[in-house]
Amino acid sequence: MAKDKTTFTCTECGGTSPRWLGKCPACGAWNTLIEQVANAGPGKNRLSAPQGYAGLAQAQAVMPLSAIEASDVARTASGIDELDRVLGGGMVEGGVVLIGGDPGIGKSTLLLQALDALQRVGMPTLYVTGEESGAQVALRSRRLGLDHSQVNVLAEIQLEKILATIETMQPAVAVIDSIQTVYSDQLTSAPGSVAQVRECAAHLTRCAKSSGVAIVLVGHVTKEGALAGPRVLEHMVDTVLYFEGDTHSQFRLVRAIKNRFGAVNEIGVFAMTEKGLKGVSNPSAIFLSQHSEPVPGSCVMVTLEGTRPLLVEIQALVDSGGPSPRRLSVGLDKDRLAMLLAVLHRHAGVACMDQDVFVNAVGGVRISEPAADLAVMLSITSSLRGKALPRGFLAFGEVGLAGEVRPAPRGQERLKEAAKLGFSVAVVPKANAPKKPIEGLTIHAVERVEEAMNVVRGLV
Ligand code: TYD
Ligand code: MG
Repeated sequence: MAKDKTTFTCTECGGTSPRWLGKCPACGAWNTLIEQVANAGPGKNRLSAPQGYAGLAQAQAVMPLSAIEASDVARTASGIDELDRVLGGGMVEGGVVLIGGDPGIGKSTLLLQALDALQRVGMPTLYVTGEESGAQVALRSRRLGLDHSQVNVLAEIQLEKILATIETMQPAVAVIDSIQTVYSDQLTSAPGSVAQVRECAAHLTRCAKSSGVAIVLVGHVTKEGALAGPRVLEHMVDTVLYFEGDTHSQFRLVRAIKNRFGAVNEIGVFAMTEKGLKGVSNPSAIFLSQHSEPVPGSCVMVTLEGTRPLLVEIQALVDSGGPSPRRLSVGLDKDRLAMLLAVLHRHAGVACMDQDVFVNAVGGVRISEPAADLAVMLSITSSLRGKALPRGFLAFGEVGLAGEVRPAPRGQERLKEAAKLGFSVAVVPKANAPKKPIEGLTIHAVERVEEAMNVVRGLV
């Protein structure tokens, strides 16, 4: 195949250069030149229409929204309930899903299980592996107990060959494991580079839309846990899923952070077993650690991301630090921690200026909702004072800079779940206090951080 010419375009100013340069010759910015296929002839994609654009192209017919038929999307349920839940009911025909997560968390395992389940109900599937050989994939399938699996495997990393195979074979679902290993002949940059990933993902997306094949792209993540490669990847695809969880613990969460065909922030919960990932249908209590006696620095909260409430233990350790004390958070936003420490100081008189502060959401779960604020503050205070919160205690609520405690969405559901699991005391925002009492649960409704601190002081 004749190679199309490539040029390098600056992401800052749009200037071009025939070669890669560290510095953009037009605007002087560093490291902004990205390789692109230049298959349009010189000047061909420049619009210059002194007489108006109607001379360049024909005007197209438009239609009012109401006249367009809104057909429901055709879905293919994978048969793995927890995965279908995050996808909003299953894979969508021609839909593209991007799934990211730490190495070894179980991306390949889950997708192989899903493809096998689809293949069993007669859907043709294709697993394109760029990271492992066919033999390694076969070994995994044996370990998963899928000895007679009919999933079609292709060990290939060249984009054009992969596209040709998908087009000819027309599977219902194709998995590309991973997008970082795929490369196109048309670009000279190395596989995994921003240009390659972007170009390959764009071609695969186009292929999905034109052929109706659902495509799942596996993506690597960076050290910070974000999907590696260009951000534009997330815009291109229909659904973005993240695998979360501690690789040392058994439980894994799959979270939808973008979904054009379903609710976002829906989560699927799995347990990694010897036979692969198994769905956990009643996950509410798996992120609590089992203390025989209440310990200082631990506070339970109820998080409600997606449709199911999850009880999660927030742990804090406050210890005397050096001249520049450290603030570290695992599973919670670091900037938010700094903010909460400032609010704690200003409005509740709890000073941690000369202390190291570490907070952790147990079980490797990531909590992005601000409803965790109150639990974070109470666990910090509990650790600082060396006093445990009472047995069966929980708290949730967003905390504002002025020291106010704001309600969390669907507070009743959170409280009911906690009561079901035997929790007996709750500190919650005033607006979340239920009108009718919940059996077995004493509720303290608070409006301000100071109030919450006073309630807790009265309890311990
Ligand atoms: P893998 O699915 O290859 O992860 P990724 O594709 O996200 O990098 O890794 C799965 C991990 O889980 C691996 O460390 C081994 C373990 N595992 C099990 O515990 N049980 C199993 O049945 C399988 C197949 C893997
Ligand atoms: Mg893998």
